[in-house]
Amino acid sequence: MILYINSCVRSDSRTDRLARAVLDKMGSYTELYLPDEDIMPLTEAALEKRTALLAAGKLDDPMFDYAHQFAEADKIVISAPFWDGSFPSKLKVYIENIYAVGIVSRYSPDGTPIGLCRADELVYVTTAGGKYIPDFSYGYIKTLAEGCLGIKNTRLVMAEMLDIEGFDAEKILADRMKDL
Ligand SMILES: Cc1cc2nc3c(=O)[nH]c(=O)nc-3n(C[C@H](O)[C@H](O)[C@H](O)COP(=O)(O)O)c2cc1C
Repeated sequence: MILYINSCVRSDSRTDRLARAVLDKMGSYTELYLPDEDIMPLTEAALEKRTALLAAGKLDDPMFDYAHQFAEADKIVISAPFWDGSFPSKLKVYIENIYAVGIVSRYSPDGTPIGLCRADELVYVTTAGGKYIPDFSYGYIKTLAEGCLGIKNTRLVMAEMLDIEGFDAEKILADRMKDL
């Protein structure tokens, strides 16, 4: 199963258009449209519940549905516009909610994360108004996927300079799509 994690907020999102061009080359997919998902930042109560469920081995609790879906995907595509040097906050909330130790990752005795996810590839799709800076968006996702979740290959698909005067956003996007 290809899991498409769509964190694009705007209904005419250019990032989503680019992501769907990527997905068209990959095959059929299941979409998770994060702006519509009922996920919240972890509260103290939610953390306590999660810790108790994990300690009891109750991994089938509905609280872990997103984590299982992520761990079982064969390929993952994330779309996220470049916002404030990073990505929309709902994507971080989603990551908080899926990062259950014992489902997406575990620790070796020396504290090294060992990934438990099946996916062999994660594609991160983004567009930026100006120059794209990957450090706190793709850079973070790549480190997490490869270093903690067990997803060996990550790939960036990016179009930048879409909001800068004198640059033709539609042409930049079309050229990037031709190149996939
Ligand atoms: C809340 C917000 C924050 C943004 N922050 C940045 C930024 O830090 N750097 C940048 O180059 N563009 C920034 N932009 C511009 C977007 O990255 C750009 O318009 C992008 O193509 C939007 O993608 P979308 O069409 O999928 O919504 C921002 C736009 C919004 C709405």
